[in-house]
Amino acid sequence: MTRREFVRLSAAAASATLLAPAAKAAEPGRKIRFAIVGTGIRGCDLLRAAKQVPTGVCVGAADLYQMRHQSAKEAWGGEIETTGDYRSLLDRKDVEAVLIATSDHLHRRVTLDAVAAGKDVYCEKPMSHSVADGFEMVAGVAAAKRIFQAGSQRVSSILYAKAREIYQSGRLGEVHSIDAKWNRNSPGGAWVYPVPADASPQNVDWAGFIQDAPARPFDPVRFFRWRLFRDYGSGLGGDLFVHLLSGIQAITGINTVANRAYSSGGLYHYKDGREFPDLLETVYDYPEMQIHLHCNQNNNDGDEGIAFYGSKGTMVVTGRTVSFTPQDVRPQFEGYGWNGMTQAQRQQAMEEWRRSHPAPKPAVVPDEAETYTVPQGYNDTADHIANFFRAVETRERVVEDEVFGNNAAIGCHLANYSYFHRTVATWDAESRTING
Ligand SMILES: NC(=O)c1ccc[n+]([C@@H]2O[C@H](COP(=O)([O-])OP(=O)(O)OC[C@H]3O[C@@H](n4cnc5c(N)ncnc54)[C@H](O)[C@@H]3O)[C@@H](O)[C@H]2O)c1
Repeated sequence: MTRREFVRLSAAAASATLLAPAAKAAEPGRKIRFAIVGTGIRGCDLLRAAKQVPTGVCVGAADLYQMRHQSAKEAWGGEIETTGDYRSLLDRKDVEAVLIATSDHLHRRVTLDAVAAGKDVYCEKPMSHSVADGFEMVAGVAAAKRIFQAGSQRVSSILYAKAREIYQSGRLGEVHSIDAKWNRNSPGGAWVYPVPADASPQNVDWAGFIQDAPARPFDPVRFFRWRLFRDYGSGLGGDLFVHLLSGIQAITGINTVANRAYSSGGLYHYKDGREFPDLLETVYDYPEMQIHLHCNQNNNDGDEGIAFYGSKGTMVVTGRTVSFTPQDVRPQFEGYGWNGMTQAQRQQAMEEWRRSHPAPKPAVVPDEAETYTVPQGYNDTADHIANFFRAVETRERVVEDEVFGNNAAIGCHLANYSYFHRTVATWDAESRTING
């Protein structure tokens, strides 16, 4: 599939709902002027990816740690306004869109401020830090009539578009079982990130970080390794499950919340004060579908993959490849059940079967196996940002909008609720609450 074909596919998948007009009148070929809030690991990666997208230009960056003002300039590769207070960027009339890559617990606040200031928002996954945050964000985006895209970039990947095409073609038959995993085996994969020796209350805006979280004295480990703590992060659910669930939503079209979820797992190796398990496994019941997710931070065998088990075949999506393997489901005489009968009975049944199935068995299975691999160096984050900029320009909804992102994030909250409460977590759609 060429890039152009993929763009067409994305546009077709997007709904035609018109949102509020862009801050500036649409001009063909113009660049979307965007600012970024949070220029740590992911924020810098977003800036590097955005450089590959010709339809946008970064004009400002905000971060609470002063050194990251320089990291942002290096990642973008040019001079941009930098600040510790993102609200000054929201005040700028020339900023149309904001990319948000803060710790999870500040996604809600920054998103609501940005849409209230008239900006369109690309917010990193998991969209929300709690169920309540997610619904507040959905309401805020709708009230401001802005474009919102959550940041699970696989939703815009050409690999996932190919998987979706195979899934939607019906070649898999009925699919009621999906099995997905994402494993790692390194300190970095378990969020043991660097804590700079120079970090201090003089160059880190600690108050800006713990707003909306319980007050505490300055703690650089909490600031730089926020993923380890429930006040700011969402564990394996928010880090990896949400990518898997977003990918599954994009491929299958399931855009809802599971009815219930059951998690098992534990904190087995990384006993460094963290509050999340390093092995988490969750089984979800969706309408007509069981989804099983598994993330281990102590062994990376098999790495990343999603398997879709259908009545006519199996599709497996890994990091760069999707493969489809048909199953031979042509009718055949099932002799096993006749093993306990007399030879005469078995013989008669077989003859009857042959009479009612006169066609000779074809030499090959009816459907063919297929494998597709994305080109070396393909960057789905660049495509995801490109889709966002296109929506800012056209005012058409993106696939991974606030409802899609909220549904995927609730999947992560269900997994964590079940793990921490040691119970089956059930979703009550009416009251929008998780019960145990
Ligand atoms: N889509 C992906 O593949 C992917 C990959 C990694 C991380 N993420 C997501 O990106 C987000 C950031 O993760 P990270 O690994 O970059 O964390 P990080 O700690 O490296 O960076 C977060 C940065 O946000 C800044 N920040 C926090 N609150 C701020 C505020 N109010 N104003 C300005 N700056 C603020 C912090 O100073 C910090 O530098 C998380 O939500 C994470 O889940 C997504």
